[in-house]
Amino acid sequence: MRVLSGIQPSGRLHIGNYFGAMRQHLQLQSKHDCFYFIADFHALTSGPRPSEIAQQTLDVAMDYIALGLDTEKTVFWRQSDVPEVTELTWLLSCVTPVGLLQRCTSYKDKIAQGLSPNHGLFAYPVLQAADILIYKSDLVPVGADQKQHIEITRDIATRFNNVYGEILTIPREYIIESVAIVPGIDGRKMSKSYGNTIGIFESQNDIRKKVMKIVTDSSTVDEPKEPKECNVFTLLKLVASDEELSEWEQRYRSGGMGYGQVKKRLAELLTGYFEPYRQKRRQLEKDINYVRQVLADGAKRAKSEAVKILTEVRRAVGLGAHCG
Ligand code: TYM
Repeated sequence: MRVLSGIQPSGRLHIGNYFGAMRQHLQLQSKHDCFYFIADFHALTSGPRPSEIAQQTLDVAMDYIALGLDTEKTVFWRQSDVPEVTELTWLLSCVTPVGLLQRCTSYKDKIAQGLSPNHGLFAYPVLQAADILIYKSDLVPVGADQKQHIEITRDIATRFNNVYGEILTIPREYIIESVAIVPGIDGRKMSKSYGNTIGIFESQNDIRKKVMKIVTDSSTVDEPKEPKECNVFTLLKLVASDEELSEWEQRYRSGGMGYGQVKKRLAELLTGYFEPYRQKRRQLEKDINYVRQVLADGAKRAKSEAVKILTEVRRAVGLGAHCG
């Protein structure tokens, strides 16, 4: 099965990215044919500085490799190194109704936040559809915020196939419900744009400070508490064993536990979880040419796949030397 996913280089990766998507990406590597990329074309929709996007792309690459990306088996590249995807975006745009994009919630949210949208932001889901369809992907592991984008991809692919014949593979999303929306320290979805993230490779001290700031209710130490409504407990579920979780559940419900205690333990578990990868991350920082080489090799492999489907699509719509 062909598995594909992408992450934007729009800041340092956080534990929402990791538990919501990357952990699944890494787990699927051993059994499937995996394609993962750094979505720098998509990141341009929010107007980063040129030097910023280059550095953040390398940071995402180092994070992935440090966390266990199999650089031999998995195809890993920078989206813009395979520009064929932008041609497919155009060809798909011509079967994409404007209304479909106007209904897109992530677009509507950005406008609601006061952002003045550029055309790239509006067309974002079409580029994402091209990313998925150009590699004939079957399965797309993502967090819940991307569900609608995968539905739009299916819609666009079906419309294309209805007009031009069964060329495009219809993909499905792979979302693990228990980690589909990882909350940030303010209780909203963890997101770079809300400034509520805990970075995967932040210093242990910064992780601790952020965990201590997680928003909780104002109950006193003595009062019993409901773990299911607590942001700290939701994050604890990502890293604690089942046995430890049920102990904390009891301590919440019986009263006499302060949030400070559970926060301290969460910080310990989180820093412990990522500790083994820090050493590898530091090594990669000293060997940036190796990281660049991995991306260049990945781009070659990705490109050879992309041109195959693009050639078929061009032919189907009536473009190219063989036509006319
Ligand atoms: P991006 O960069 O916003 O996020 C990368 C991945 O992390 C997941 N994620 C979360 N999951 C759970 N809880 C959270 N708080 C959380 N925050 C982020 C996202 O769901 C995503 O899986 N549009 C994509 C990039 C993309 C892509 C693609 C993905 C471009 N082309 C093709 C799949 C297939 C995005 O913005 O991801």
